[in-house]
Amino acid sequence: MNSSIRYVNNTLYSDTTPLQEIAAQVGTPTYVYSLTRIIANLRHLQTAFAELRPHIHYSAKANANLAILRALIGAGAGVDAVSGGEIHRALAAGASPSEIVFAGVGKTPDEIRYAVEQGVGWFNIENRAECDLINDFAEDLGRDQIQVALRFNPEVTANTHPYIATGHGGAKFGLTAETITSILDRSAEYPHLNFSGIHIHIGSQLQDVEATRQAVQAALTLIAPYPNIRTINIGGGFPVAYTPNTDLPTAADFAAALRPLLRGYELILEPGRSIVADAGVLLTRVLYMKYQAGQAWAIVDGSMTELIRPALYKAHHEILPILKSETTNQRVSIAGPVCETADVLGRDVVISYVETGSLLAVMTTGAYGMVMSSNYNARPRPAEVVTDEQGWRIVRRRETWDDLISAEQA
Ligand SMILES: Cc1ncc(COP(=O)(O)O)c(C=O)c1O
Repeated sequence: MNSSIRYVNNTLYSDTTPLQEIAAQVGTPTYVYSLTRIIANLRHLQTAFAELRPHIHYSAKANANLAILRALIGAGAGVDAVSGGEIHRALAAGASPSEIVFAGVGKTPDEIRYAVEQGVGWFNIENRAECDLINDFAEDLGRDQIQVALRFNPEVTANTHPYIATGHGGAKFGLTAETITSILDRSAEYPHLNFSGIHIHIGSQLQDVEATRQAVQAALTLIAPYPNIRTINIGGGFPVAYTPNTDLPTAADFAAALRPLLRGYELILEPGRSIVADAGVLLTRVLYMKYQAGQAWAIVDGSMTELIRPALYKAHHEILPILKSETTNQRVSIAGPVCETADVLGRDVVISYVETGSLLAVMTTGAYGMVMSSNYNARPRPAEVVTDEQGWRIVRRRETWDDLISAEQA
């Protein structure tokens, strides 16, 4: 919980709105995001890194809802996009093309062409062949010099879940030091590319600053012979507390460790999770209670199709009642309707009395929630709502059964 998502008189609120009101009017499952909290998180990161005057490119992969992109762009953020679709979203939300960074390990030629046409500000390159493609499209389209940052795989193992560590040698991400040196030594072969940056991103939900410091140090050593490289993009990865009272490094800790290294460079950050995660909740309603094999189950209308993180990463999310009662706590596992044993949002959750009809909030679900949702079991995607100090509004309607078949022909 935080200053935006908190209990007021035993009722869970997002900004000025009781979540019960949204559930009653929009139904469940529904994602609710506090725009107030999202902007506060952006400001928090800006303040922590203030001395290094970072350019913050919000990583749209964490949550690409247009209303969220628009709010962040309005607050001065650029966008980190990893597909043509994310560039399209960023532009639709009002991003200036020059404020978009285009990253990704497998950009298609069509996506690269689109990004060059649109005039995106930076390409983060992960393959030598990308240099040829970008250079050729720039030539065809009469573009001058395109800023590129080579993504370095620093062979540093981040302390995080193995599925979201990206900077170790065995990962598919980035380029080896040898490849980067060989590309930079032949930069004259790419007259339309301006090799002015280096990019690293060693993982998400980083549990310590040391691996990042080592990775940045390795990147600086690598580019030392190339004085034209003045921009260091250190990616995202700032962690979020999914459980209360977790001991995690703060943005200020990262800034303090990196400040001595990065003075005099332009700094780009690509935060995703730390901007949106704790600003979001997934509202869900208990459909049925079930007691078997010595276990209590609450079967809810939210599931792994809305939130795959528990099934995919065994991720923990707090689950709280929207109306807190004084009744004694019970232990209950909270599961969705999907035909997978892994479709459990919370195991052995200690929660006040719940029954059929109870409303629950799955906390800290603003990042990597809706963006990873699916239509498995032909389940329509949920609605999305934003709140702020003025109230709330729907920013994506709930999908219908007709939406599910609208792109198909029998
Ligand atoms: C290259 C890159 N930049 C930024 C991010 C955003 O990371 P996070 O959401 O942990 O801040 C990611 C996520 O994996 C990424 O791969």
